[in-house]
Amino acid sequence: DDLESLADEIRSAATVVAFTGAGISAPSGVPTFRGDDGVWEQFDEGQFTYGRFRSDPEGFWADRVELQRVMFDEDYQPNAAHEALAAMGRDGHLEAILTQNTDGLHGKAAETVAKSDGSTHEGNDTTILELHGNSQRVRCTDCGKRKEGGPVFERAADGEIPPTCDCGGVFKPDVVLFGEQLPGAVIQRAQSLARESDVFLAIGSSLVVEPAASLPRRAASAGATLGIVNLESTPVDDVADAIYREDVTEVLPRLRELVESR
Ligand code: OAD
Repeated sequence: DDLESLADEIRSAATVVAFTGAGISAPSGVPTFRGDDGVWEQFDEGQFTYGRFRSDPEGFWADRVELQRVMFDEDYQPNAAHEALAAMGRDGHLEAILTQNTDGLHGKAAETVAKSDGSTHEGNDTTILELHGNSQRVRCTDCGKRKEGGPVFERAADGEIPPTCDCGGVFKPDVVLFGEQLPGAVIQRAQSLARESDVFLAIGSSLVVEPAASLPRRAASAGATLGIVNLESTPVDDVADAIYREDVTEVLPRLRELVESR
């Protein structure tokens, strides 16, 4: 079938890049943003803008504590799709994972996959670029220091709003908010990986939030084979070479097996 031909292309490609969104973490229990069960049905995304963080840090943090509770209260674990990508990376078939997710699960999967065969995390040299940051961390808006988020979110939940750093600066979740620019170096790196890729896999993303959503189109126009794995149609489907409208935990382990076995 055409998953086999995609596997063949991956085997012969010099550069394979995966681009992921909330759909890859949905089977781990992390809520997605859009769709009926999406968090933007429950919360107003307009309350989580960079503009609001700057003008009303108290209000922003009060709402963020609630969002954090809904999205990240559980200790989520990587699923078979994260693990399949991590294994492909370990085996030299995946140059980079560009993710819009802030849940840190690609990094966790790289660790577990490496451990299960006795090698180390360093043995997996797949680049993981967290385009929208990491929800498990906070960053001081004054001194720039990054800290583990858990204890700071707890302080905020206990009423320290907004939570502040030792230096007196206000902490911000270490994520890219609506209306905030992605760090220039990060987006440039992602764009050049997209351009260089021979195979580009867009996985579990509605592909509507810019600038990240342009990456698949950019890859395709630079000549990459574009594969899309997503339950719903996307605005980039028109330029895709192969579309799998199936669960990520079905497609990716199968793809990985085909890459290994052929
Ligand atoms: P979305 O919630 O917009 O899209 C998730 C996609 O995953 C949907 O199209 C679903 O059909 C699909 N999906 C869900 N479960 C799946 C499964 N098991 N297998 C395959 N597909 C599945 O999430 P993103 O595209 O990641 O930005 O959203 C992009 C950005 O919008 C996020 O990073 C966040 C958000 O607002 C910021 O916070 C800046």
